[in-house]
Amino acid sequence: MSKKISCTGIKPTGSPHLGNYFGMYKPALELAKEYDTRYFIADYHALNSIKDAEQMRQLSYEVAATWIACGLDPEKSILYKQSAVPYTFELHTILMAFASKGLMNRAHAYKAMVQANLENGRDPDDGVNVGLFTYPILMAADILQFDSDVVPVGKDQIQHLEMTIDIAQSINHNYAKELLNIPQAVVKKETGLVIGMDGRKMSKSYHNTIPLFLPKKKLRKTIMKIVTNSQTIEEPKDPDKCNVFAIYKLFATTEQQAKLRARYLAGGLGWGHAKQELFEVMNAHLEPMRDKYFALMDDKEYLDKVLADGAAKATEIVKKKLDNLRLELGLK
Ligand code: TRP
Repeated sequence: MSKKISCTGIKPTGSPHLGNYFGMYKPALELAKEYDTRYFIADYHALNSIKDAEQMRQLSYEVAATWIACGLDPEKSILYKQSAVPYTFELHTILMAFASKGLMNRAHAYKAMVQANLENGRDPDDGVNVGLFTYPILMAADILQFDSDVVPVGKDQIQHLEMTIDIAQSINHNYAKELLNIPQAVVKKETGLVIGMDGRKMSKSYHNTIPLFLPKKKLRKTIMKIVTNSQTIEEPKDPDKCNVFAIYKLFATTEQQAKLRARYLAGGLGWGHAKQELFEVMNAHLEPMRDKYFALMDDKEYLDKVLADGAAKATEIVKKKLDNLRLELGLK
């Protein structure tokens, strides 16, 4: 029996940070054990906000190298750039004819921009490009082109998945046939729960991220800047109210966690000590990935080859899907 299909994409809009790693890369890559997996760099989605060619190219390589450094095996999974598979955009056009404008009006990202404009006395659609408005339809094309069964995403993408299902169902209903497979969102519990430097959710928009692949010295320096309270060394400390411990838990074994917890509660542990513990466990975990990441970023030829192979494989699959859809829709 053939394996079920998992598909997910990441927009190249910023350098990967710890929140992305635990929220997206890691859980999505775990699915490779069980599923036929397709991963892509959502560069056409990113184009809505990244309007600088060099930045787009650089960030796209960073996302590609991050997928591989975090464990993606290009022999087993398909890795490609969204823009390299033109059939996706043909499907996007087909889906446009079935996606209602009202549905798009309700998309969170669009609604938030309209809301902000209204609050500031601007035209409701000020600064909104059509690509942002139709974003969920392109995302539906990414997913439906593969007949994906599962889509690992963060919580903020659940609504987009519901829209994908809505659009697919309206096509299936219209032609009274299962032309498109109905996908399911897979949302990891810890998704979105990675704490940033200041204790709020780690997010690019809060400027509180810890980049995933900081060189060792810089990583240590960054950890030393994590916000803590002003308790003295002697005072017993509450690990459950501590940003350092929250991040420590992501990397440490249960045994290591129990040990450090006891040292917090006993008193005599300064914030510098706690941060050093965090640095050690974090660096041990990230070092092999970081080495691989920098080696990959130094070998663009290899990255280009992996992406070209991936695009060829994806194109072959999607071309078949589109040939069939054209026939079913009377376009052929
Ligand atoms: N919208 C997703 C995000 O911002 C990225 C994305 C684009 C995606 N197409 C997708 C995710 C298809 C899953 C499936 O995170």
